[in-house]
Amino acid sequence: MINLIPIPKYYKERFGEFILNSDTTVYADEQLNFARDFLVSLTERTCGYKPHIVVSKKANVCFLYDRSIAKEGYIIDCTTNELKISASSIAGAFYAVQSLRQLMLAEILEKPGVLNMHAIYIEDEPRYEYRGILLDEARYFFGMDVVKGILDMMAFHKLNVLHWHLTDNEGWRVEIKKYPKLTEIGSNRRGTQHIAWGNKSVDWTPQGGFYTQKEIKEIVAYAARLNIMIVPEIDMPAHFAAAIASYPELSCRNVKIETAYMHGNCEGGHQNIIACAGKDTTYQFIYDVIDELAPLFPAPYFHIGGDEAPKTEWKKCPDCQRVMQENGLKNEEELQGYMNNKIAVYLKRKGKRLIGWNEILKTTKDLEHSVVVQYWTPANDSRVANALVEGRNVIISKHQAFYLDMTYAQNGLKTTYEFEPEKIGLTGDNSGILGVEGTFWSEWIPTKERLEFQMYPRLEAFAETAWSPRENKNYKDFYARLVKFMPTLRRMNIVSCPLHMTNVKNKLKAFHMKNVFVTKNAHAEYNRAMLYRKRHRK
Ligand code: ACM
Ligand code: ZN
Repeated sequence: MINLIPIPKYYKERFGEFILNSDTTVYADEQLNFARDFLVSLTERTCGYKPHIVVSKKANVCFLYDRSIAKEGYIIDCTTNELKISASSIAGAFYAVQSLRQLMLAEILEKPGVLNMHAIYIEDEPRYEYRGILLDEARYFFGMDVVKGILDMMAFHKLNVLHWHLTDNEGWRVEIKKYPKLTEIGSNRRGTQHIAWGNKSVDWTPQGGFYTQKEIKEIVAYAARLNIMIVPEIDMPAHFAAAIASYPELSCRNVKIETAYMHGNCEGGHQNIIACAGKDTTYQFIYDVIDELAPLFPAPYFHIGGDEAPKTEWKKCPDCQRVMQENGLKNEEELQGYMNNKIAVYLKRKGKRLIGWNEILKTTKDLEHSVVVQYWTPANDSRVANALVEGRNVIISKHQAFYLDMTYAQNGLKTTYEFEPEKIGLTGDNSGILGVEGTFWSEWIPTKERLEFQMYPRLEAFAETAWSPRENKNYKDFYARLVKFMPTLRRMNIVSCPLHMTNVKNKLKAFHMKNVFVTKNAHAEYNRAMLYRKRHRK
């Protein structure tokens, strides 16, 4: 059995082992120097010794540039005395190193201090070009070190997009120089609804935090070295209370509110809060924010959310109603479509494609063709199938499998693993599917440890869907590899869900646990798992 997650496209194990030690020599064709250096520094960090970089192809380890290999793909050809890595890009060679890392880390547990691996031949390339994770830092701010750690682990699993949910009702997390109140006011809140959706009690510990533009640049550069692009999200027109708390004129009726301490379409003056789609000043604000963020994030995408937008305020607002009349918009859904379109056109001029949740398909009147749809709703949405038929691009994030902030009782490991992103009523030509994304909404994730618990080991299951060919997927085989992989996670000091708790087979029990999560205690499953870990750990 190969100790690799996600499983490669093709592999053949060989007899014997390859040892990487301080006598090992490494060569790279110039195009792949970066991957060579990454391997050298990784070896040094893991084992305290460095292989020697040489200029001869007679080296023990060779990185060879090969144009015929797919983008992000690689070949590892490893015998007992030679390790050849071929790729057509830094990304491919980098993923080869990530594979070597997993293969060698599995061995290191058995022979500490020596980097070795079984001889093997691997041909690999990704199923999807877009392999993403959503990190919500609006509900809780985790900070630079946690984000860098997540990026490292994403690369380890061959994931390549961080969708960064930087704004919501509960917080605005990015410095915008033209609008300083966004971080003076909007990044802070007095407390947090902290127990469950169905429990209104508030922990009155103030919460805050934001990234300066300098820090954003540092994180984006850090990610780029790991072949990860960061797609920023500024959620609008709903999920916008932190912006409105900072600048009340962004709302329809200049409402005075504070940054939300309750989640959802919440109480306390936040019900139905939304950006005004009628005032020019709202559009100017959005364009200004885009102007500042676009140069910081080189990704060709920009996410505007667009989900869960209540239209009550728009119905009452003279500015919104005027714009509807002037533009012949039949209803408030069309007004949201009008807004999406204006922003999509603005982004397009900056070389970026707008991404929005599948609610943006509620009205496709004149919808910019370049817009990318992210499909999240639990119910099947025939509009997504139509969008694919129209030749639009789609990212699959279905709630019932890829919402990894849900309990394991609800979205168990097997459910996440076996979910087939193209078998959800998308029966036409699915070539427009860019890829998949797993979400970590953080309403109930206040700490790094809790985040890790939600991630591991579902990230492994998700990554295999994102990367591996569909025909190579097999839950039993995956689970066997995962059992071998868990010590690697432990060695990295990562909190994970104990394997026996990752699937709740009894349907009644699963239903009960989901109910507890929603109504009583969103932390019950985690607390139980931590208690188990404490009792069973040396
Ligand atoms: C969403 O979960 N509201 C996209
Ligand atoms: Zn309005």
